[in-house]
Amino acid sequence: MAKISYLNTPFSIKSLSLKNRIVMPPMCQYVATDGMPNDWHFVHYVSRAVGGVGLIIVEMTNVAPNGRISPNCLGLWNDDQRDQFKRIVDAVHAQNGKIALQIAHAGSKALGASDVVSCSPVMFDDTNDANAQWQYQMPRALSKDEILELIEKFKQSTKRAVEAGFDAIEIHGAHGYLIHQFCSPKSNLRTDEYGQDKLLFGEQVIKAAKSVMPADMPLIVRFSAQEYGKNGYDVDYGCKIAKRFADAGADVLDVSGGGDGKLDPLHTPKFHAGYQVYLARAIRKVSNLPIITVGMLEDPYLADYVLSTGDADLVAIGKGLLHDPYWALHTLNSPFVPQPYKVAF
Ligand SMILES: Cc1cc2nc3c(=O)[nH]c(=O)nc-3n(C[C@H](O)[C@H](O)[C@H](O)COP(=O)(O)O)c2cc1C
Repeated sequence: MAKISYLNTPFSIKSLSLKNRIVMPPMCQYVATDGMPNDWHFVHYVSRAVGGVGLIIVEMTNVAPNGRISPNCLGLWNDDQRDQFKRIVDAVHAQNGKIALQIAHAGSKALGASDVVSCSPVMFDDTNDANAQWQYQMPRALSKDEILELIEKFKQSTKRAVEAGFDAIEIHGAHGYLIHQFCSPKSNLRTDEYGQDKLLFGEQVIKAAKSVMPADMPLIVRFSAQEYGKNGYDVDYGCKIAKRFADAGADVLDVSGGGDGKLDPLHTPKFHAGYQVYLARAIRKVSNLPIITVGMLEDPYLADYVLSTGDADLVAIGKGLLHDPYWALHTLNSPFVPQPYKVAF
């Protein structure tokens, strides 16, 4: 039976020291009221810390009410929200875990918002379900002043996250949300500087976040290295995004893909185990930054193999950690992982 050799090795970047290479990627829970974390979030995240995850990244948490992908999503636009996050952060630390927060704005993918905004009035390219509770709306284009206000909101949410005690910050530039909308030639039709330079908004958000973070706290940036929809950008453009965001101050690249709308079979990887590792490998060639890879990696041997190849430094296990909060313990408890996993306690 194969041996797990890499998943259980420590990893450090700046002041962040992880006991293993397992990351819980951000995953929306859709159970917040007024953007506030509650007991569900407490149990959800703290149980993954008990379960031995190296780094927990809290789900997409939005800088403004109209940035939520549903009215039940988390926010960090006030101090009460910050104080509830602190409760979770402290409990994760008490379990010897590390925790980051993903900060975001959904732009045109905000559902149930009254004022939907984006870089340009381009509808999110997806099929509205007539029976769904909320529908995608045509967004209103942000004015230059509103763009600057939004960058300030990213900064204020980051500042609150630092005050709450998070170990790292992740900026969400992936999956078709606002920063991705600015990056994408499909959704950014502006003619001003934010259209001529489609990566400018993301760069300014990263710099604003860094300006309120301690110098030794790492900033993780998640981005889609390839779009999966019709006329989507390819991985060459993804490499340009990576380089620009690294130059802006990213310390770790969380390499994902898609989210830009209906999947184009000609532009989408087949959804097999490890289906996005090729994106991490491509970004690795153009950047020296540590890389997180994600996508159907819950087979521990596969996750371990991906680390062994050097394509990524950290592996994110999403749905695997929803199915089993103790995935890390079950995987790492023994150098040999029996199938089905041995129960550790
Ligand atoms: C329920 C659910 C919610 C998600 N929410 C987010 C999110 O808030 N932010 C984000 O960047 N990705 C989100 N994702 C994507 C995951 O972080 C991850 O990239 C994806 O699930 C692929 O990894 P997996 O195959 O290990 O699940 C979500 C995925 C799921 C299943």
